[in-house]
Amino acid sequence: MENTGFDLVIRNAHIATATDIFDADIGIRDGRIIALAQQLPAGKEEIDAAGRWVLPGGVDAHCHLAQPTDDGSVFADDFFTGTRSAACGGTTTVMPFALQKKGATLEQSVANYHSVSDGEACIDYAFHLIVADPTTDVVERELPLLIGRGYTSLKLYMTYDDLKLNDREILDVLSVARREGAMTMIHAENTDCIAWLTERMLAKGLTTPPFHGLSRPIVVEREATHRAISLGEFLDTPVLIVHVSSEEATAQIRDAQSRGLSVYGETCPQYLFLTAADLDQPGFQGAMCICSPPPRDAKSQQAIWDGLANGTFQVFSSDHAPFRYDDPQGKKIGGKHGNFSHVPNGIPGIETRLALLFSEGVMTGRIDINKFVSVTATEPARIYGLSPRKGTICIGADADIVIWDTDIDTTISNERMHHNVDYTPYEGRRIHAWPALTMCRGSTVYRDGEFIGRKGFGEFQHCDRPKPAKPKPKFARPTPWLDVL
Ligand code: URP
Ligand code: ZN
Ligand code: ZN
Repeated sequence: MENTGFDLVIRNAHIATATDIFDADIGIRDGRIIALAQQLPAGKEEIDAAGRWVLPGGVDAHCHLAQPTDDGSVFADDFFTGTRSAACGGTTTVMPFALQKKGATLEQSVANYHSVSDGEACIDYAFHLIVADPTTDVVERELPLLIGRGYTSLKLYMTYDDLKLNDREILDVLSVARREGAMTMIHAENTDCIAWLTERMLAKGLTTPPFHGLSRPIVVEREATHRAISLGEFLDTPVLIVHVSSEEATAQIRDAQSRGLSVYGETCPQYLFLTAADLDQPGFQGAMCICSPPPRDAKSQQAIWDGLANGTFQVFSSDHAPFRYDDPQGKKIGGKHGNFSHVPNGIPGIETRLALLFSEGVMTGRIDINKFVSVTATEPARIYGLSPRKGTICIGADADIVIWDTDIDTTISNERMHHNVDYTPYEGRRIHAWPALTMCRGSTVYRDGEFIGRKGFGEFQHCDRPKPAKPKPKFARPTPWLDVL
């Protein structure tokens, strides 16, 4: 028999989207929102959200799960533990990376990533592609094919020996992205500066975690950000600078945007809540906060807050890159006699991303609730071709919904996390908000502190090509060299 009424009605929802705030009941059928109105008829199930914010489920557009490595380190979270942790923090879609190792084909890399994720995820997921070896076949055949199949975003690295591309290789990939309408994310750090400095530090015996930060100063990020933007400008194609950490890189992005370029920015909790001082802890414990770019200082933290508030950043992701601390395959490689340059880069944060920003951003008035929804859900979904199915509350969208509890006064502790990591960099941090309930496609996956989802519930999402960028503004510089190609 045809399913007509509502499978579920969320009553008295105080809803925020990226643009609006309104009160309504939400009618859900077959995993989708089919009605938004006051006093909807009864559903088979009902949830009363009275007095609570009801927001779109988070879209975490940058996280690393079950990613292969070259150095013997092992990502602590697979698709099950990583998505379980995400769900418990209010995220309903994640976008990790299908990584191409040098020498491998992209198609094989994507197939391998499907084989580790099929039947494992508890929430929905899509893939970005990491292009580490842009051979002629990759550029001319594989990329157009995969973009056409719904893998419409690419990440390129300007650093890390096993992943980095030179400028010419970046141009090769950007020109395909331009032609095929894909979005290119760029990890912007100047690799030669880092290698040059690291070699000299190690030769002097400067091996502890704080030297990780010192080996990647702001100028290294600023220069590469400027170069990445310039390469995108040269080919008149969008670029998105990921995990921006510093005031100076933020200024580069803002300047490019003010010149009418299609330049997007992403930042992450570590650049709001950690500083270089967190790398300087007793023993080797500072390794727990080693990530790249590294956490900076209070001035950069303020610039990142400002960049969220003023629209320089469209995307707020976790960059969850989980490695256990006390584990031979984790951060403590070499223990107290270790060396920062061998510590795998990245920190966990998939579960704490939303609560930290809600608590310290919305509840302190640094950003408003619409901006929160925009950077944590709506814009990531739009930029990477998942909207309007994901990232908003509207008729026809997937019922990916979070009911927030904003009446709490508690602290973050690793004991309460659902990831597979033996620490959180935010241990002991006070927060005043946490999801009371997370729902993915109408199914409750988390409620009142408990994961109640199911391994294998999550579905792979093919991404559309990003929506056509706004027409190039008249004041943007013309690119006549492209007309002769
Ligand atoms: O340190 C970081 N960010 N590790 C994860 C890999 C990356 O570059 O995003
Ligand atoms: Zn990166
Ligand atoms: Zn990352």
